[in-house]
Amino acid sequence: MIKFWSYDKEYKKEKKKILSNIEKTISKGNIFFGDQLDNFEKNFIKKYKAKYGIAVGSGTDALLIALKTLNLKPGDEIITAANTAIPTISAIINAGGTPRLVDIGQDYLINVKKIKKEISKKTKAIIPVHLYGQMCEMDSIIKLAKKENIMVIEDCAQSQGAKYKNKYSGTIGTFGCFSFYPTKILGAYGDGGFILTNDYELYKKIKRIRFYGIETVEKTNFKDKYYANENGINSRLDEIQASILNFKLKKVNSFINKRKLIAKEYIKKLSSTELELPTENLNCNHVYHLFTIYHAKAEKIKKKLLNLKIQTRSIYPYPIHKMKAYRSLIKNKQRLKNSEKKAKGIFCLPLYPELNSFEVNKICFTLKKVLKEI
Ligand SMILES: Cc1ncc(COP(=O)(O)O)c(C=O)c1O
Repeated sequence: MIKFWSYDKEYKKEKKKILSNIEKTISKGNIFFGDQLDNFEKNFIKKYKAKYGIAVGSGTDALLIALKTLNLKPGDEIITAANTAIPTISAIINAGGTPRLVDIGQDYLINVKKIKKEISKKTKAIIPVHLYGQMCEMDSIIKLAKKENIMVIEDCAQSQGAKYKNKYSGTIGTFGCFSFYPTKILGAYGDGGFILTNDYELYKKIKRIRFYGIETVEKTNFKDKYYANENGINSRLDEIQASILNFKLKKVNSFINKRKLIAKEYIKKLSSTELELPTENLNCNHVYHLFTIYHAKAEKIKKKLLNLKIQTRSIYPYPIHKMKAYRSLIKNKQRLKNSEKKAKGIFCLPLYPELNSFEVNKICFTLKKVLKEI
């Protein structure tokens, strides 16, 4: 079976180093807020050329904490794409907001031409979701947000290392929120997330919210000052995950290069088929977190591929407004047609740095055979 995703090969290759890092970390006696976290935060901020940043418990928490800085009131709306991952939406609702969905374009990203129509006095932020590894058209989003005086929070869970006009994902909006869920570009061996920002006051605020509302920027030793300045949550990245992420961060560029090579190979081998393949927008450096293709008979193709021992996945099979949890919340459903159409026919091929050329060839050969049969 060619798995849709697997960490087996990576772990086999790096086992010694990963386990020795974990052993060193535990032996040091710190489980939270130690050297590993400090180093990881410094390295991540430096690598992606932001001024400030904090690691948190997950990508969902990163979005939640960023949204909490807005102190949302009932009825306040946050604009985002109708085809996003569930956590973008749950973070909005858990921060006290109401999602306002915008349809997507041919590239699966929020259609920037349709954002303006959804903005009202209730709008407090836009969350562009850089889905599948490619960034949204940020110039238009930032221009609109400035004009309307609303915040931009980038959902970078799928776009670590991607660029728009030479700027890294997560450094253009007020906040950039990342996920280290194991399948992501930089995957932990558990949960993790990160928030980047260039605003010092907001940095202090997200740092407080991460840890029960306690001030930890100037007062580095929080044990001396167990005192909440505001209501926060608990969203810590532990030292073990930070040690693994520190180790893998050094290799992340090579992970991305490998992903790009695999994507290039897929495109070369599948361009003669009737499949709708991913495209790269002008000004964008796509990091191929996922290789998403569209075919009206996606379900049939997926089933046949699975029978031939190739796993695929639909990411995501339902647009947000089609799910029971959110149906009643979304008011502008009739304007989300492209998100509905794409959700019915998308599926993703396996794509991770350890996938070898034999496997890529086998996937393409089998897929072409299946296409002839359906
Ligand atoms: C677009 C998007 N946003 C947010 C998240 C949430 O990240 P996490 O799973 O780390 O909470 C994910 C990951 O599933 C995602 O793909």
